Amino acid sequence: MTKARIIDGKKIAEKLRQRIKEKGQWLQEKYGIQPGLAVVLVGDDAASHVYVKNKHKFALEADFKSFQHILPEKTSEKELLLLIEQLNNDPQINGILVQLPLPSHIKTDRVIEAIAPLKDVDGFHPYNVGRHTIGNATIVPCTAMGCLLLIKEVMGDDLDGKKALVIGRSNIVGKPTARLLLNESCTVTMAHSKTTKLADECRNADILVSAIGIPEMIGGDWIKEGAVVIDVGINRVEVDGKTKLIGDVRFDEALKKAAAVTPVPGGVGPMTIALLLQNTLKACFLQNNIKMDF
Ligand code: GUN
Repeated sequence: MTKARIIDGKKIAEKLRQRIKEKGQWLQEKYGIQPGLAVVLVGDDAASHVYVKNKHKFALEADFKSFQHILPEKTSEKELLLLIEQLNNDPQINGILVQLPLPSHIKTDRVIEAIAPLKDVDGFHPYNVGRHTIGNATIVPCTAMGCLLLIKEVMGDDLDGKKALVIGRSNIVGKPTARLLLNESCTVTMAHSKTTKLADECRNADILVSAIGIPEMIGGDWIKEGAVVIDVGINRVEVDGKTKLIGDVRFDEALKKAAAVTPVPGGVGPMTIALLLQNTLKACFLQNNIKMDF
């Protein structure tokens, strides 16, 4: 029985943030340009407030300019679109992120499509999704890219022909992760809530990425011996009156079957913010026509 490697996303993200900070400082010294990120949050979603606070903290830590726009739940779509237009036109801002989900009276698609594609550091604009789909991406969604980097950390850069299963078909995680793995020449299967014989699909996967949001749905008996398991699930459950974060995978069981597995928390989560900073830096290079070597 194997004992899997625990993929330390926190440590890997820390190293990545340090590299980003150094590149940003180089940009400042050589060109006098400081990358700027604007994050917009509408409403009272408690988890979103935590995420946005962390994005602000890590942007400042990387020596970026960080602008937060925390708007009330009753903000109209028109007001939000007006703010986005201002941010699009503000030369201090290289990256715009509108935290999702938005309140139900605001059309998410309209908001995403209002963001200038070169400032869309989420990579959610149809222009960026299209470029990614044809294999010519500049900005790729943060969580998906975080998953790929964690996979490469254990499997190396050559993923040719690996069987990858992505569970979940969201535009934020599932679809872009599948696109990334396909671009890496994996044989990709996408599973979702209507997939039949999901356990069999899982048992066939060399790379298993779960972003389904069902606490501990995946047990050890679903995991192929020696697989790499990436758990994107962040499920809040009550244990003894306290809120605890748990993943989609039964971690202890996965440890006995997989070659490597991400913990929750401390796996994919920290990578998302690091990749957001990387996307902002990339956007800054692109907007200023400066050649990137990353
Ligand atoms: N909500 C959950 N994940 C994300 C993300 O990656 N970007 C945005 N904008 N909202 C989210």
